[in-house]
Parts: sequence; structure tokens; C-alpha cells
Amino acid sequence: MPVPHRVAVVVGSLRKDSFNRKMAKALAAIAPESLSLEIVEIGALPLYNQDDDATPSAATIAFKEKIAGADAVLFVTPEYNRSFPGVLKNAIDVGSRPYGKSVWSGKPGGVISVSPGAIGAFGANHHLRQSLVFLNVPAMQQPEAYIGGADKMFDAGGKLTNDSTREFLGKFATAFAAWIDRNAAS
Ligand SMILES: Cc1cc2nc3c(=O)[nH]c(=O)nc-3n(C[C@H](O)[C@H](O)[C@H](O)COP(=O)(O)O)c2cc1C
Repeated sequence: MPVPHRVAVVVGSLRKDSFNRKMAKALAAIAPESLSLEIVEIGALPLYNQDDDATPSAATIAFKEKIAGADAVLFVTPEYNRSFPGVLKNAIDVGSRPYGKSVWSGKPGGVISVSPGAIGAFGANHHLRQSLVFLNVPAMQQPEAYIGGADKMFDAGGKLTNDSTREFLGKFATAFAAWIDRNAAS
């Protein structure tokens, strides 16, 4: 069997019971064998400060190595005030610098936004895509993934109980594997 694509999954919530984290785990559990998904943590990263570019923290170095070693990046994000959370923007900024040393550039990407709200964090999803254009991350367009009503989709153990969402995640993962094949960094 061919070696699976390594996908770094970046979750835009630090909350212990995050629906986004649960969704990322549900996706990892049903993704095809051609994908290997690993959540890369962002909670220990320092706030980005350009003065630190020459002396990065251990957390920054470890984070950048994990992203650099991945074949693709998948963002699973909530919406905060109609945009994506500052913790996620911070992680993106940390990975993008020093200038010319971005770990994001050229990696095929995907975005899933998850919210209890009805419009599935559409605003976060599209604000994030704006940054991905600049970062040279080709982000899969279809299927779009705006998942609303997330507060009613998991049981007490964090298992996804919504069949149509599980089916959708399966289709998303299959399309994402094909997207990585088409856009793999040379
Ligand atoms: C600061 C803040 C701002 C929020 N703004 C939005 C918003 O604009 N749109 C939305 O759908 N939900 C909003 N919410 C609710 C989040 O969708 C909800 O807290 C969700 O559970 C966060 O994702 P998580 O479960 O992965 O942590 C906001 C929550 C916080 C804490």
C-alpha cells in the first residue's frame, strides 16, 4: 500500500470540550487509508512577536517542524465574532515567519468550520481562506464544509452521532485526498 499523506490538522479552539476538536477526531477516524491525520497543538505557542524571529521558542520550533513535515494542512475552526479565532491566527502567523521561511507555502489545504450556530461559521471559513491565499496554500473549494448545529451532534463520550454529518465527512476526506494528490508540493 502507498504511504499515506500526512495531514497536519490545526484546530482553532483551545476549549477542552471543543466541538471543532471532536469533529477533527471524527474525521480522523473515518478518513480513507490514504490519509493520516494528526492534530498539531497550538495552545503553547507564544504570541507572535517579530523580535523573536531569530530566537524562536521551543514550542515555535516544534510547531514549525510538525507543519513542515506534513504533506497537507487541514484547518478545523470555530467562528469568533464572524472571523476565525485569534489563537489560530497566531499559529498561522508563527508558522509564516521569518520572512521567506514560511512552513505553509505550497501545502495543499482544507478548511472545515464548525459552530453550534446555523450558518456553520461561514465567516470564519472565508476569513481564513483570505490568509491562505497569501500563504500560498491551495485550499480545496469543494465540497465546502460549514457545519452548523454542532452542539447537538456528539454524545457524552464525544462520539459523532449525526449520520448525515458522518457521511459528509467521509466525502470531504475522500475529496481532500484527491486534492492532495493533485496539488502535492513538488
Ligand atoms: C469570543 C466568542 C465569539 C463567538 N462568536 C461567534 C460567531 O461569530 N459565530 C458563531 O457561530 N459562534 C460564535 N461563538 C460561539 C462559538 O461558535 C461556540 O463557543 C463554539 O462552541 C466554539 O467552538 P468550540 O466548541 O470548538 O470551542 C463565539 C464564541 C466566543 C467565545
